[in-house]
Amino acid sequence: MSNLNPNTKRETFSSGLAVFFATLGSAVGLGNIWKFPYLVGINGGGAFILVYLICVALVGMPVAISEFYIGRRARTNPIQAFEKLKASSFWKIIGYLGVLTSLFVMLFYSSVAGWVYLYTFKAIKGDFTNIASLPIKEAGIFVSNEFNIAVNGTLSPMLWQLIVIAIVSIIIFAGVKKGIEKVTKTLMPVLLVLIILCAIRALTLEGAKEGINFLFSMDFSAITPSVILSALGLAFFKLSIGMGTMMTYASYFTDDNNMPVTSARVALSDTGISMLAGLAIFPVVFTFGLEPGSGRGLLFNTIPLVFSKIPFGNVLLAAFFFLASIAATTAMTSMFAVPVSVLTESLNMKKGKAVLLTGGVIIFIGILTVHPSSLLGNITILSLNFFDLFDYISSNIFMPIGGLLIAIFVGYFVAKDDLINELSNQGKLNMAIYLKLFRLILRYVTPILLIIIFLNSVGLLKL
Ligand code: PFF
Repeated sequence: MSNLNPNTKRETFSSGLAVFFATLGSAVGLGNIWKFPYLVGINGGGAFILVYLICVALVGMPVAISEFYIGRRARTNPIQAFEKLKASSFWKIIGYLGVLTSLFVMLFYSSVAGWVYLYTFKAIKGDFTNIASLPIKEAGIFVSNEFNIAVNGTLSPMLWQLIVIAIVSIIIFAGVKKGIEKVTKTLMPVLLVLIILCAIRALTLEGAKEGINFLFSMDFSAITPSVILSALGLAFFKLSIGMGTMMTYASYFTDDNNMPVTSARVALSDTGISMLAGLAIFPVVFTFGLEPGSGRGLLFNTIPLVFSKIPFGNVLLAAFFFLASIAATTAMTSMFAVPVSVLTESLNMKKGKAVLLTGGVIIFIGILTVHPSSLLGNITILSLNFFDLFDYISSNIFMPIGGLLIAIFVGYFVAKDDLINELSNQGKLNMAIYLKLFRLILRYVTPILLIIIFLNSVGLLKL
C-alpha cells in the first residue's frame, strides 16, 4: 500500500538522540575527512573556511530546515511528498532530481569509501609498519606510492566498492530502527573520540604550527567566484542537502523533534568534525613536506604518517581508517535510502528488490566509469574524467538547483501558518522570532545567493 494512506504505520526513529545521530551520520562522512581538507588545501586555507561557514549559515541551514519540513510533514518519499502536501506536480521534479543526484554521488562516493575500506584492511595487515623506520621524506614518498597502487589497480578498487555497497544494502534492508539508528548511535560517538585523538597526535608534530597557520590564514586573494561556488557545493555536500536525503530521513523523525535546533546542532557538530580533520591532517602535511594542495589523495597520504612514530601507532591507524569507513558507510546509507524509499513507496516494490536494483545500478555504472582502470575510466568530458564529472555535476550543479527549488517551494508556496506550525511542533516550541528570521532568510537571501552564484558560474553574470 502507498503511504498516502494515513492508516499505514511508518517506521520512525525512537528518540531525539537517534534523530540527531542518524542525521549527523548522514552529514559526517568522507566530506569531512577527505573533501573538506583537500578543498581547503587547494583553495587557500582559512579564507575558504570562512566563505564555507557563510554558505552553511545563509544557504545550508535554511535548506536543511526546509527539507526537514517537507519530509516530516509528508512522511513519505521525496516524490510522493509533494502530492501529500497538495503541491502542483511540477514540484515533484525535486524528488526526481534527488534520486538522480543520489545515484551520481553514490557512484564516486562508494569508490572512495572502497579506498577507505581497503586502507583499513591494509593497516590491519601491517602494510604501514615500516614507515616508522624511514626518514621523513621517504616516508612521504612511500605512502603516496601506496596510494597510487591502491587506486589504479584493476580488480581491487572494484571489489572494495562492491563490499561497501553490500554493507550499505544490509543496513537499509534492516530498516530505520534496526539498521540506520543502531549503526549511527553506536558508531558516531566512537568516531568523535578517535578524530579528537588523531588531532591531538597531529598537533604534537613539528609542523603543527604551520598547519594551524595554514588552516586559519585569511588569504582573501584566493577567493574567486569559482572558489565561492565550490564552498557552496561543499556546504550542500557536507550537510547532505539538495537531493532529498534530509527529506527522506526527516520522514522518519519523531513528532516532537525540534527540527531547527536539530539542523543547528548537526551543522555545528559537522563543522567541528571537519575542523578536527583539518587539524589532524595539515600539521602532518607540513611536518612531512607534503603538498597541501595535492588533491584527493591528501587523506590517504597523510593519516598513515600521523601514527607512524608512536607506540601502538598501527593499531590507531587501523582504528582511524575503520572509523572513516563507518563515516563513509553511514553517509552512503542516507543516500541509498532515497531511491529505495521511492521504489518501495511509489512503485510498491518489495524492499529486497529495491535494494538490489539500487545497488546493481551503482555497481554496474560504477564499474564502467569511476575507476581509472575501468573500461571508460580514461574518457574525459570537459576535461573531467567520469569520477570528477559525477562529483562536479552533483555538488556544484544538481544539489544547488535542488536546494534552490526547495527554498522557493518552502519559502513561497507553503502557507506561512503551516510552516510555522510544523516547525514549532504545533506551537509547543516557543521560537516565533527565530522562525520568522528563518523564513525571511529562506525567501530573500538563500535563493538570491544561489541564483547569483549560478549565473556567475555559467558566465551570465560577471562578479
Ligand atoms: N554529507 C556526506 C559527507 O560529507 O561525506 C556526503 C553526502 C551524504 C552527500 C548524503 C549527500 C548525501 F545525500
